[in-house]
Amino acid sequence: MNGDLHVRPFDTAAPRYDAQFSRRIAARWLRAMVHRRVDPLLANDSLILEIGCGTGEDAVHFARQGHRVFATDVSEGMLEETRRKRESEPAQTRRRITVATLDAADPCTPALESSSDFDLVFSNFGALNCVRNHEPVIEFAHDVLRPGGHLALTVMGRYCPWEFLGFALRGDFKRATRRWQGVSDWRQAGATQRVWYPTISGTRDLCRTRFRIHGIFGIGALLPSTEFFGVCERWPRLFRGVAHVEDIMASHWPLNRLNDHFLIVAQKVAE
Ligand SMILES: C[S@@+](CC[C@H](N)C(=O)[O-])C[C@H]1O[C@@H](n2cnc3c(N)ncnc32)[C@H](O)[C@@H]1O
Repeated sequence: MNGDLHVRPFDTAAPRYDAQFSRRIAARWLRAMVHRRVDPLLANDSLILEIGCGTGEDAVHFARQGHRVFATDVSEGMLEETRRKRESEPAQTRRRITVATLDAADPCTPALESSSDFDLVFSNFGALNCVRNHEPVIEFAHDVLRPGGHLALTVMGRYCPWEFLGFALRGDFKRATRRWQGVSDWRQAGATQRVWYPTISGTRDLCRTRFRIHGIFGIGALLPSTEFFGVCERWPRLFRGVAHVEDIMASHWPLNRLNDHFLIVAQKVAE
């Protein structure tokens, strides 16, 4: 079990996670940006391993496209939400989603032991920020991917202008600069989750040891981070335009360096 991890905050957050994040308009735009980069990597009926699936939003998305998804998380509360979401889908989508426990800090699970034929290992919106050391999960992804398979990870970066400005304007300099040290604590219902913010170059260099990098994209570079999603609900037409610009510019500097999350896409090369 991950010694760095206190699972309870996500168990507690799970029932409200969709209302507080996934169903918000900005989160939907941001998730759609990730899908636009990742969907084209997949051939028909691909096999996907998702790490830190949360409430199963992406698992359902991929299953609806006809892919088979192994949706994993360390939080039983989150896995329960994923199972619930799966049950509300038509049978053919339901059948394509397997829900299982997997700790990204110590990634092995009996159900996956003999697998080495995944087409995609995917992790979205900061699941890997709950893990200090990414080496084991990168190694594990390499082991379970088929040659030519892809890795797509959306990770919270260290320098997020929106978050800095938003909190600084509120006079909250502690939160404005919370990412800069590379680690902070997220408190939820009396429990604490430690959150690490790797540098983009550090993640890129680590992935490079095993994969060929295809691209790094800013996700939430012009759009606000979660605490400031309210502005998108207040001015949806304006921010829809902003989302459009972000989508077009996501792989370019400075959007691919200064952002809430960065998406790194890489490929396992044949040995
Ligand atoms: C911010 S949520 C993102 C959820 C989902 N990927 C999404 O896009 O909405 C982070 C998720 O990472 C999970 N998580 C935290 N630590 C983890 C670990 N060590 N291994 C696997 N998942 C973990 C949490 O339980 C939570 O579901």
